[in-house]
Amino acid sequence: WVLMVTAQTPTNIAVIKYWGKRDESLILPINDSISVTLDPEHLCTTTTVAVSPSFDQDRMWLNGKEISLSGGRYQRCLREIRSRASDVEDEKKGIKITKKDWENLHVHIASYNNFPTAAGLASSAAGFACLVFSLAKLMNVKEDQGKLSAIARQGSGSACRSLYGGFVKWIMGKHDDGSDSIAVQLADEKHWDDLVIVIAVVSSRQKETSSTSGMRESVETSMLIKHRAKEVVPKRIVDMEEAIKNRDFPSFAHLACADSNQFHAVCLDTCPPIFYMNDTIIGCVEKWNRSEESPQVAYTFDAGPNAVLIARNRKVAASLLQRLLFHFPPSSDADLSSYVIGDKSI
Ligand code: DP6
Repeated sequence: WVLMVTAQTPTNIAVIKYWGKRDESLILPINDSISVTLDPEHLCTTTTVAVSPSFDQDRMWLNGKEISLSGGRYQRCLREIRSRASDVEDEKKGIKITKKDWENLHVHIASYNNFPTAAGLASSAAGFACLVFSLAKLMNVKEDQGKLSAIARQGSGSACRSLYGGFVKWIMGKHDDGSDSIAVQLADEKHWDDLVIVIAVVSSRQKETSSTSGMRESVETSMLIKHRAKEVVPKRIVDMEEAIKNRDFPSFAHLACADSNQFHAVCLDTCPPIFYMNDTIIGCVEKWNRSEESPQVAYTFDAGPNAVLIARNRKVAASLLQRLLFHFPPSSDADLSSYVIGDKSI
């Protein structure tokens, strides 16, 4: 017999960034962060996990290619979920798995991203969130979402935020064991549904410096990161929570853009410096926002050149797409395509 579970998890985009760890193996951050989870039908990971007595080892395929599960992050997620497995019974198939059986059963995992892997579009976030969630369902783990988020965090920090929709805060926590470093939902997906997120995929190439090694180098060499984590982010988190609660777009846009820019300033302050972002899109959005009474679009960049643009409503999103296509016409060498989140028809 084979028992299977399939789950789909969207990616999330941080508007107050996580950058820097205080514990590398447990993945504990040096500051809180806030993100928005995208609509699941657009950028997401779909993962099927299967268990069968005929499987003789844990195996995983990512986008159709087998990958090694020997890395510490996969092992930790598998171990944490397995240790919380409970009895599973499927009467129709005549399957009965006891808590004890899970110790000796192996899983096969097949995971697909419908967007470029490791091009700075938080693929590890959706990937580990989906892995942890689907394994927890398969093994009948009875923990709450907060606990599952702490397990997903050990796969990739940003993954803990993808277990919720809407606006999500990852609380950095104080404990050495990471038990209070969890994600919480600030507002659900219906709270501010005027917003339209447009992602300009400037390049689908794999990024040169991974987030993991980039943030390690920043923690080791940047002075600015210390000031950011201690002085700047704590206040920004409070202000961002307030902006989200009040659906205050000018404050939201100001904070998101400033935080993205400071994160990239930290990257430049790293030795050797790290360059992720494409600044021509920033120039274009800044000019537009300044020509209006109040900001129309917020931008944020993760560890890659692709721009995440958040328009205050659908009308602005339509005009944004026109501007993007005018200023950055897709050509054979600049692979610019765009995803519109939340409304395919724009
Ligand atoms: C720039 O979560 O990919 O996207 O914890 O080492 O797996 P690891 O890093 P990762 O870093 C994400 C960094 C970021 C900002 C963010 O998502 O908050």
